[in-house]
Amino acid sequence: MLNIPFNKPHLTGQEHANMAEAVANGHISGDGSFTRRCHLFLEQHLGVPRALLTTSCTHALEMAAILLDIQPGDEVIVPSFTFVSTVNAFILRGARPVFCDSRPDTLNMDEKLLPGLITQKTRAIVPVHYGGVGCEMDVIISLAEANDITVVEDNAHGFSGKYRGKLLGTFGALATQSFHETKNLHCGEGGALLINDPSYIERAEIIREKGTNRSRFFRGQVDKYTWVDIGSSYLPSDLLAAFLLAQLESLETIQAKRKSLWELYRQGLTVWANDNGVGLPVVPAKCEQAFHMFYILLPSLESRQRLIAHLNERGILSVFHYLPLHLSEMGLRMGGKKGDCPVTEDVSDRLLRLPFYNDLGPDDQNRVIDAVTSFIL
Ligand SMILES: Cc1ncc(COP(=O)(O)O)c(C=O)c1O
Repeated sequence: MLNIPFNKPHLTGQEHANMAEAVANGHISGDGSFTRRCHLFLEQHLGVPRALLTTSCTHALEMAAILLDIQPGDEVIVPSFTFVSTVNAFILRGARPVFCDSRPDTLNMDEKLLPGLITQKTRAIVPVHYGGVGCEMDVIISLAEANDITVVEDNAHGFSGKYRGKLLGTFGALATQSFHETKNLHCGEGGALLINDPSYIERAEIIREKGTNRSRFFRGQVDKYTWVDIGSSYLPSDLLAAFLLAQLESLETIQAKRKSLWELYRQGLTVWANDNGVGLPVVPAKCEQAFHMFYILLPSLESRQRLIAHLNERGILSVFHYLPLHLSEMGLRMGGKKGDCPVTEDVSDRLLRLPFYNDLGPDDQNRVIDAVTSFIL
């Protein structure tokens, strides 16, 4: 029996042909025809004024922090239960992270805690839609508006998920996507900045192009291009855009497959989970999730570690997820203390993600379900 990995990057079959076409076009640096087609797809699909491909979600977040003109001493409210990039992007500009604990149901930023975290220095709130299930955006947006704070959605997991019928990534002034190979749609390494507030568009193009107005030059809006601002090289090669376009154009098929995988896990695990005090993902009725992952919440760290070993013995790789950022080496240096985010500290010990990828066949998925449900807690 072959081992079942945790993730396997999916190929639609069109990637090679698209990349060959990019090579034949003679333009494989950034912003070629495939990049333009990806931008158009994202803008039309999401209904955002401007989408810009980036080399990663990390880089899209860094662009967002530059666009917000984050200065040393500014405060940015971030979840503790997230990937380092959500926070690092703002630390790089000198911000102080203010960690917000998670809701015990969706594991998203607990919006009820925000009023106690907002100060005169708060410049941004960065909700992460964990597992592609939307945060409480109504509350977050209205608190942000009332306090003149900008919302940057880290939508790394949530492409095509919705909150109250509106697509994730369309709520904040800025939002970021990841197209890393662990995501529903990917190009190995990649991302996008979604710009919902059009006043950021021109400067975003400049920052992405090394601080030059090269994009305006290519559109014939200026006679020559020059250095106008700070910036870096945040645009991917058109080869990657060619790969990504194949994935974007298969969005519906990819999402339908992931939905059926997710439902099969839910059906196969519900009785065992209820009988054993194991939590399954919670998707509130107002959220249409993006089917990014399937996790379970074991009763304790000890049972989680034993289940990892039990699955390993059966050739199945399962993995835990984020460690609380406020208790990481860097988080502690920034003043984080045990007990600051009790829900995050608790779920981080108990959460386990099961193999979840488009090419997971029914036999293998049933093998995972059988292995999990044969585990004695
Ligand atoms: C919530 C979140 N934000 C940002 C990132 C960074 O994405 P990338 O690898 O595209 O830089 C990740 C990576 O998995 C993530 O989980």
